[in-house]
Amino acid sequence: MEGSLIIIFGPPGAGKGTQAERLVERFGLVHLSTGDMLRAEVARGSEIGRQVQQVMEAGELVSDELISKLVADNLTRANGARGMILDGYPRTVDQARYLDVVAADRNLLVIAIEADEQEIQRRLGGRRFCSGCGKIYNVRLAPPAAPETCDACGADLVQRSDDSEEVVAERLKVYREQTRPIADFYAARGNYYVVDGNRSVEEVFSALERIVESVAA
Ligand code: AP5
Repeated sequence: MEGSLIIIFGPPGAGKGTQAERLVERFGLVHLSTGDMLRAEVARGSEIGRQVQQVMEAGELVSDELISKLVADNLTRANGARGMILDGYPRTVDQARYLDVVAADRNLLVIAIEADEQEIQRRLGGRRFCSGCGKIYNVRLAPPAAPETCDACGADLVQRSDDSEEVVAERLKVYREQTRPIADFYAARGNYYVVDGNRSVEEVFSALERIVESVAA
């Protein structure tokens, strides 16, 4: 696992964050999520946060330049870690090319989680996250024990501003046009695996676990 960089790739709502958390627990990896990094900047009210907030709320991609710098900084900070999991990056072919340069010393494993658009709308409509610890819930599919309250830390659950039906439709369009082409970029190299994400969280996790065990162990 040492030196591995696992890229979890797929449309919004496919379950990348949910599965990344489980892989982190199972294999002791460091989790880098570009969406989480950007949301933290927005919450802090930083210069970067101010630049990206409107773009994210509209469901568009932030610039390659800005996001790639953020990723490079975080990769450097996490250097020496046993293995890393990257969720939400790369999202354009240019980002994938940049990653080849800044992570040249890492063994890349790319896993795509695929899910139907109808299922994605259903999942994102019900998604909530904890305003305290960030744990992900779904009011329909994986509800907390007490309504709108985190089981782990007791803080309030909130909805992401980009999870409205209209913005999700835009995010799916952006995915099809700008992110999906990355699949061909990686598939041509043979380090690319596809998992059916329409199944239960447990079933998807088992498939991911088998791939990671067989390839990166
Ligand atoms: P980001 O936060 O990365 O959003 P995303 O890729 O659209 O993915 P999501 O977080 O919405 O979904 P997920 O696949 O992680 O699903 P989850 O596990 O939460 O990015 C947000 C924005 O930041 C972008 O739009 C862009 O503006 C910007 N950005 C980020 N990275 C960028 C980059 N590299 N370049 C440029 N801009 C960038 O699951 C969803 C829900 O479904 C949850 O409620 C969960 O409980 C439930 N669920 C999960 N799996 C299952 C299952 N198997 N069965 C039933 N329910 C399930």
